[in-house]
Amino acid sequence: MSSLVPSPAQANTMSRLFSSYQEFLQLQHLYNAAIKEVKMRLEVLNDEFRVTYERSPIHHIESRLKTTESIVEKLERKGLPITIAAAKERLNDIGGIRIVCNYIDDVYAVEKMLLRQSDIELVKRQDYIAQPNYNGYRSLHLDMRVPVNLSARTESVLVEIQIRSVAMDFWASLEHDLRYKADKTTLPEGINEEMLQCADEIAVIDRKMQDMYDRIQAAK
Ligand code: GTP
Ligand code: MG
Repeated sequence: MSSLVPSPAQANTMSRLFSSYQEFLQLQHLYNAAIKEVKMRLEVLNDEFRVTYERSPIHHIESRLKTTESIVEKLERKGLPITIAAAKERLNDIGGIRIVCNYIDDVYAVEKMLLRQSDIELVKRQDYIAQPNYNGYRSLHLDMRVPVNLSARTESVLVEIQIRSVAMDFWASLEHDLRYKADKTTLPEGINEEMLQCADEIAVIDRKMQDMYDRIQAAK
């Protein structure tokens, strides 16, 4: 259960990364600002789409900030120094934004609209739709630097943007839920194979939905 007061263990982890509470607040503020910046740009694009084409490519947007414990754990796992500088420079997902689109083509349309913005820098692109993970996970991952205008300087903040269709999100959400519930040592036989099979079946349906949408548009 979470509480407003950090446990001694949490306080200890925080003190490994931050030398003051102010530093913690500043980092949180920076990444919250980067998330807001991306969300605002997406809202503008979605509104424009609605005005022009009378529909929205974006179904919904989610975002999250990595906890201090998980920042420290990832720095350790990657053998990096436990510093704010290393976290900002080397961790791509302190700020995470997930854009859930209606159709597969919308995923790439949203990517294109983001990439044409000249002050956003693409650092890394992983297309798990073209090449799904071993278990069938599908999504387009973009690690991007977005400018955050602060009172005295502009900081380029690295965020991870995951773009996927509603169907891909359906699978990823339940797979994540099942994986967390499961005892890794006693996973019943065949689960991994079935998970992959579900992902492939959902992908077939996703393409069918896209195809129907395209045919309906063409008939208009
Ligand atoms: P880091 O980004 O450094 O962690 O490594 P990476 O780039 O190899 O990770 P990747 O981009 O593959 O995954 C990052 C995020 O994608 C995860 O935190 C999840 O949110 C999501 N993700 C990746 N694989 C899966 C998967 O198999 N299932 C689900 N549900 N989500 C996944
Ligand atoms: Mg990644």
